[in-house]
Amino acid sequence: DLPSLSEKYKNYFKVGVAVPYKALTNPVDVALIKRHFNSITAENEMKPEALEPFEGTFSFSIADEYLDFCKKNNIAIRGHTLVWHQQTPSWFFQNPQTGKKLTNSEKDKNILLERLKKYIQTVVSRYRGKIYAWDVVNEAIDENEPDGFRKSDWFKILGPEYIEKAFIFAHQADPNALLFYNDYSTENPIKREYIYKLVKNLKAKGIPIHGVGLQCHISVSWPSVEEVERTIKLFSSIPGIKIHVTEIDISVAKEFGEDIDEETKRYLLIQQARKLNDLFEVFKKYKNVVTSVSFWGLKDDYSWLKGDYPLLFDKNYQPKFAFWSLIDPS
Ligand code: XIL
Repeated sequence: DLPSLSEKYKNYFKVGVAVPYKALTNPVDVALIKRHFNSITAENEMKPEALEPFEGTFSFSIADEYLDFCKKNNIAIRGHTLVWHQQTPSWFFQNPQTGKKLTNSEKDKNILLERLKKYIQTVVSRYRGKIYAWDVVNEAIDENEPDGFRKSDWFKILGPEYIEKAFIFAHQADPNALLFYNDYSTENPIKREYIYKLVKNLKAKGIPIHGVGLQCHISVSWPSVEEVERTIKLFSSIPGIKIHVTEIDISVAKEFGEDIDEETKRYLLIQQARKLNDLFEVFKKYKNVVTSVSFWGLKDDYSWLKGDYPLLFDKNYQPKFAFWSLIDPS
């Protein structure tokens, strides 16, 4: 048996993995999950389109199976994600009578706010005490907007208030759950500043937010490890804010294309391993701040980055250099 990853880092942070439901029904996947990870995220199965596909029709059976699996195997579970501009059914933003897009009139705002409340209350209270951390709001910042806010339907109808409300509703539904703001490219200095301001303002207003999720969908060439550290430093300077690395993967194909030759690939996979180990050294340094690190997928062929090699295990379940770099750095 391979040395266990989560065991190796148990004095620092949880080591998690995002998996599709099919992995929980595959004994080979299950063995690998149980050996190496002590936190699980549903890759898609706890997103709004999965949990409330039609207004008032909740569908919890698959999500419940994640809960059962985690309970049975003593694995923690992160909830992902309550409020997002993607994988959210269009009915949320439509007038129930006319089917037209909601506007920012008071009446329409109330419709959407009620839906937000009902969704969060229903989902978060169902898993109260079981899902220990929720990504409450995902990807609300867009550094290309003058005010930094992504012009999602949530924003267009409700304004920035939707963010505060989401955290308030989630906290009401489970006062013990850790509530996160989650985003990608948090290493971009401009975006980082917007996120910092957002979270700082939420805290200052007494909004129940407990952490920032760094997705960490990165590549061998960007961002640098130093830039990741700067982000951790900045966000954790806000009192009461922890950090979860929520979706780490390190792309090697992004800049080099899918048809790289074997020699180049081997070189890049070694670069990937070095970078991952350097990152884990930084995470360890901030062990009271970084309390969970999750990979966005179990093995390369399961990754959402098709044709890429961004994870710890290859398609044949073999540990890559990246895996070994975390077990035996040298
Ligand atoms: C991705 C899943 O991995 C894909 O299977 C799905 O088709 C799209 O969503 N940021 C997030 C995740 O917060 O939810 C996304 O997951 C990847 C980017």
